[in-house]
Amino acid sequence: MSIETASYAAYVVAALLFILALAGLSKHETARAGNTFGILGMAIALVATVTKVVDDGLDALPVVLLIGAVLVGAAVGLWRARVVEMTGMPELIALLHSFVGLAAVLVGWNGYLHTEHEPHGHEARRLDALDLLGVHSAEVFIGVFIGAVTFTGSIVAFLKLSARIKSSPLMLPGKNFLNIGALVVFVALTVWFVADPQLWLLVAVTIIALLLGWHLVASIGGGDMPVVVSMLNSYSGWAAAASGFLLDNPLLIITGALVGSSGAYLSYIMCKAMNRSFISVIAGGFGMEAPSGDDTDYGEHREIDAEGAAELLADASSVIITPGYGMAVAQAQYPVADLTAKLRAKGVEVRFGIHPVAGRLPGHMNVLLAEAKVPYDIVLEMDEINEDFPETDVVLVIGANDTVNPAAAEDPSSPIAGMPVLEVWHAKDVIVFKRSMATGYAGVQNPLFFRENSRMLFGDAKQRVEDILRLLGA
Ligand code: TAP
Repeated sequence: MSIETASYAAYVVAALLFILALAGLSKHETARAGNTFGILGMAIALVATVTKVVDDGLDALPVVLLIGAVLVGAAVGLWRARVVEMTGMPELIALLHSFVGLAAVLVGWNGYLHTEHEPHGHEARRLDALDLLGVHSAEVFIGVFIGAVTFTGSIVAFLKLSARIKSSPLMLPGKNFLNIGALVVFVALTVWFVADPQLWLLVAVTIIALLLGWHLVASIGGGDMPVVVSMLNSYSGWAAAASGFLLDNPLLIITGALVGSSGAYLSYIMCKAMNRSFISVIAGGFGMEAPSGDDTDYGEHREIDAEGAAELLADASSVIITPGYGMAVAQAQYPVADLTAKLRAKGVEVRFGIHPVAGRLPGHMNVLLAEAKVPYDIVLEMDEINEDFPETDVVLVIGANDTVNPAAAEDPSSPIAGMPVLEVWHAKDVIVFKRSMATGYAGVQNPLFFRENSRMLFGDAKQRVEDILRLLGA
């Protein structure tokens, strides 16, 4: 068997392992095995690719460059994955998507320079003989477009998620026309490029796509960022698939299609869970109105100290804890688990209500609570617990904000209107743990803080929960 055939066979095995990895990652119990399949598949793919390049009998330089790139990439990847905080995962993922986009742009440009720009070169003559030059041009153009949109879109997502720029939506006048216009120009330029592959057309589509990617993600508000991240995941998959066609690499095509379709499906599920229009989000907030600016006077908020909170808890018979991003930042899950155990030992019914987008990544709160050994059976999804708030004595909102905002349910002009939330305000008493009156991730004021039955407990969530634990005594 030639090395060429062996490497193709290895690609098929790697593709199967990637499919098994996806299947494994869909359940808690099989996630570890899924990860192992993924690592194995990637190792096989890398070895097959390097072997193929070495076998191609190229000069030493490309081989050295390839191995150098693999080593540098592996070192950076290992370092980032080891030091990244759980709360920093979405921004790291967004940054990695931008690399896929950039790689697709470079592969596309390389494909062009190798063939169309060198019409008498070996590759151009081969494609011409097969009558495939037009197909190749289309692959180049579409690959560069998807890659460039993914590249800048992911960079904006990274900047928003890491709070380096504001997460509120950019509202340029006629923004929908800008997006649709860019798509129409792209289609027209593609037809032109296939007929006559000129360099300036490729430059033009690269610039248009870079601007479009930037604008699409900048136009989406903070509350919809979880969908944007999975949408960019999908785009990066399609960008990789486009590179696969150009490089004649079946594994890239299969893997790209897997990532592209699973990312699109995840975006769709998230949109349904958050009552958002899928089309509107992927079209850069198509049809969403500019937030009207909130100058509502909500009145005065009331405060409580740890002593008051401990007294309320000592008298309660049912408590629901709704954690959010602030619990992750404060690393308050350990004292929260101790508080839960202490209250349960005193006969108080304690349960957790988890919003599907609480924190910064899917399942964020579940992972933190499992880490602190909170029993699974008292950790409930939003839909399972939302009707129980009216019969609850005390709700502890620990570092959550957008996910408990009544404006989503009650104010149709709110930027998060329609998003299902934990309806904590129906409980007898609500204690909100946070450091200030600042807004949450979506940048929207929260009327919960001003309700009759709400009290603010200011300070770092971990310290405040520890204070309460001390006051509740042995
Ligand atoms: P957020 O709305 O992000 O609010 C978190 C709150 O925690 C802030 O208001 C902050 O107030 C407080 N906080 C921060 N550090 C704290 C500390 N050390 N101690 C106490 N409080 C602290 O939280 P959420 O309710 O979990 O909502 C999640 C938001 O993120 C949603 O808008 C969601 O769409 C978005 N998002 C989610 C995901 C996924 S997949 N889950 C991904 C990207 C974005 P102070 O500054 O006043 O303390």
